[in-house]
Amino acid sequence: MQINYAKAAKRDPKRVSGNSSSSRQKHRIPLSHVGSPIVYRVHIVEMPSNAIGEFGRVVWAPDEKEGFVLGRIVDLGVEDLSVEPLNGGGAVIKAKHDSVFWAEEDLHKDVDDNCALMFLNEGTLLNNCRVRYARQQIYTYVANILISINPYENIPDLYSLKTIKSYQGKSLGILPPHIFAIADKAYRDMRRLRESQSVIVSGESGAGKTESQKCILRYLCENWGTSAGNIEKSILEANPILEAFGNAKTLRNNNSSRFGKFVEIHFGANHTVAGGFVSHYLLEKSRICFQQAGERNYHVFYQLIAGADEATRKRLKLTSPDQFQYLSIGCTQFFGSHSSRKNVAQSAASPECRSKGFLEDSMVDDFSDFQRLSKALKDIGIPHALVSLIFDTIAALLHLGNIRFVENTEDSRGGCVLDPKAAGSVSVAAQLLGLDDYELRHGLVSRMMQPTKVSL
Ligand SMILES: Nc1ncnc2c1ncn2[C@@H]1O[C@H](COP(=O)(O)OP(=O)(O)O)[C@@H](O)[C@H]1O
Ligand SMILES: [Mg+2]
Repeated sequence: MQINYAKAAKRDPKRVSGNSSSSRQKHRIPLSHVGSPIVYRVHIVEMPSNAIGEFGRVVWAPDEKEGFVLGRIVDLGVEDLSVEPLNGGGAVIKAKHDSVFWAEEDLHKDVDDNCALMFLNEGTLLNNCRVRYARQQIYTYVANILISINPYENIPDLYSLKTIKSYQGKSLGILPPHIFAIADKAYRDMRRLRESQSVIVSGESGAGKTESQKCILRYLCENWGTSAGNIEKSILEANPILEAFGNAKTLRNNNSSRFGKFVEIHFGANHTVAGGFVSHYLLEKSRICFQQAGERNYHVFYQLIAGADEATRKRLKLTSPDQFQYLSIGCTQFFGSHSSRKNVAQSAASPECRSKGFLEDSMVDDFSDFQRLSKALKDIGIPHALVSLIFDTIAALLHLGNIRFVENTEDSRGGCVLDPKAAGSVSVAAQLLGLDDYELRHGLVSRMMQPTKVSL
């Protein structure tokens, strides 16, 4: 038996890095063996990750724009290698030995698992993922880790019910790499090992973590949900609620989760879904009061303005987003598809939204998402009166944001008073929060001082 790396090394012993074959020879430790003669051997040769100089060899050389470009080694220096790009157009690249990597022989062949590459290094791994991505194969394994590249478009049939069913009970590697295969492995290992399993989803903002997490949740609930279906419905329906209150448009992602999420799916003795638990942490609270230009506050504010009916908006005294300090700092446009935007009242849209139009994203739609949010709140069992109170509080926050303070020139101790122009906002906020008008005014401008406890 001989592993791939050994095969590669055998063809060209010089490729073994740093310690050349002679230095390996020097440090060879003879292992005498006693007893039966050797029939099979296992060769384990550790290959260098970078391309040690070999004139004329095709390599991946670093490139600022592309990450890596293919080139041929044309000069071997002590410190640097000179690589001539294969596409002919570019200038010779000078790079350190350890930043140039061997390329695969067949550059158009892709592998499901990066570990199956003859030379596994940064250049070949990225190229393999890139070749696959161009063929709409967004998933690639590195052993039992899944690399996923955000396609930013719906790939037909990728998450259909048929696909969900096809991955059931299949070991990793039998079918093409997929997030469902990871979910299935977690489920099978839980059953086999009788131990809880974790799937960790990580990546930079906009990489597709939230969508991946939703896919895993859907896979587990579709395959092993109970026949009654209420539990998994509640688990899946927590998503529109969490996203309304915890997601926002950022410059990188129109539906960016501004909090960390820990989702548990509980399975009963018969290995079907028995319950779930979602906890969140590190919510970006500062976004309520401030957003960068081009970003938005949490979706729920825009959903409420765009999606609530006329009577509710009147009751909550909601005008367009530009009229609220907490929304006017950032982007005031709504998200909406061609069909949903006609449901949004003209008076609810900001001048920016009216002039530039609605933003479009298949994942975000303020009017429709508000209807989904209201339904989800109802479906998870929150009484109608409480749902109204939640919306009252959201609107009250917007009115509170419009309150201004001015310096109190009449008080020698300093301090401030409420700007008389903000009187309307204070009254509306008090009314919506169920507070006494006077108490809210007083509470907003009084300071409570508490002596620290000191022991004598
Ligand atoms: N598998 C996918 N297929 C299609 N579009 C996707 C997929 N994953 C992510 N997206 C798109 O990318 C956007 C950002 O993904 P998201 O999961 O919110 O990123 P993250 O949570 O990593 O910040 C989504 O709103 C969606 O438009
Ligand atoms: Mg997210």
